[in-house]
Amino acid sequence: DWSMAAYKDQAIAAIRDQVGGGRVICGLSGGVDSSVAALLIHEAIGDQLTCILVDHGLMRKNEAAEVVAMFKEHYNIPLVHVDASETFISELEGEADPEKKRKTIGRLFIDVFEAEAKKLGGADFLAQGTLYPDVIESVSFTGGPSVTIKSHHNVGGLPERMNMKLVEPLRELFKDEVRKLGHELGLPDSFIGRHPFPGPGLAIRCPGGVTREKLRILQEADAIYLDEIRKAGLYDAIWQAFAVLLPVQTVGVMGDGRTYEFVCALRAVTSVDGMTADFYHYDMEFLGRAATRIINEVRGINRVVYDVTSKPPGTIEWE
Ligand code: XMP
Repeated sequence: DWSMAAYKDQAIAAIRDQVGGGRVICGLSGGVDSSVAALLIHEAIGDQLTCILVDHGLMRKNEAAEVVAMFKEHYNIPLVHVDASETFISELEGEADPEKKRKTIGRLFIDVFEAEAKKLGGADFLAQGTLYPDVIESVSFTGGPSVTIKSHHNVGGLPERMNMKLVEPLRELFKDEVRKLGHELGLPDSFIGRHPFPGPGLAIRCPGGVTREKLRILQEADAIYLDEIRKAGLYDAIWQAFAVLLPVQTVGVMGDGRTYEFVCALRAVTSVDGMTADFYHYDMEFLGRAATRIINEVRGINRVVYDVTSKPPGTIEWE
């Protein structure tokens, strides 16, 4: 892609211009955006860059380990893996308000980045894979009044007291353009095709507030759901799919006993840029199969529902 190759060179020049001889740390989530940002910055400034993967305990099942392994095997970029799950989960426990959750997560990310920068002897810049839709959706919704829909965990600048400046080389791009840029940078297609995953992770898929137990239940259900999607060959046809654990218990029957357990909602959407989305039209056989497996294999869930809301009026995530 000629235009993306040209864009890449231009972006690299802009990063060199901004950063000079400074040190950069880059938050890596394992998603496409932060990975592309990291590769681009690494091409621009080499080992002035250190990547930091903050495991907040809110990732998908086994995700943190897989991401670290992928990066260590394929890339020669210094990567620090920080397990901050205790801090994140204990601060979030009992918090049900979606905006407070997002703000707490944003603040804790900054705390971890600051602490890690200190360990590295200081950093001048913090790099993030913020995209154009992240920037506009945090400010206002397309065509609507200027209200905050969701505080994107990594939009809104850094606290005053911080002496790191932001590097956001993807700030002008849409998702499909980031994927093209990733291709240009040599990211494997399997990686480029990964579904988006939000920075605040499973916290915003546990309405009513997280507990360690709920996170465990959600991780199990989500893993089974994604496994069924892959087995059915549907992964690439879907923009994003995930499970949500509702804070509602319902009555069920298992064998000859009564159960009283949580409801799991399944979500899947198609989209071009995440700004609008349609719910995915599964066939009922697929949904029945996924639901049966989740209820049989995950203790704590006895009912599964499918979300048929498009965006707008729904958002993709539930919080
Ligand atoms: P919504 O829920 O606003 O999501 O329709 C649109 C897309 O953005 C992702 N998303 C986020 N990504 N930090 C992120 O990195 C966030 O705070 C955040 N909130 C939503 C969401 O998963 C979807 O792909």
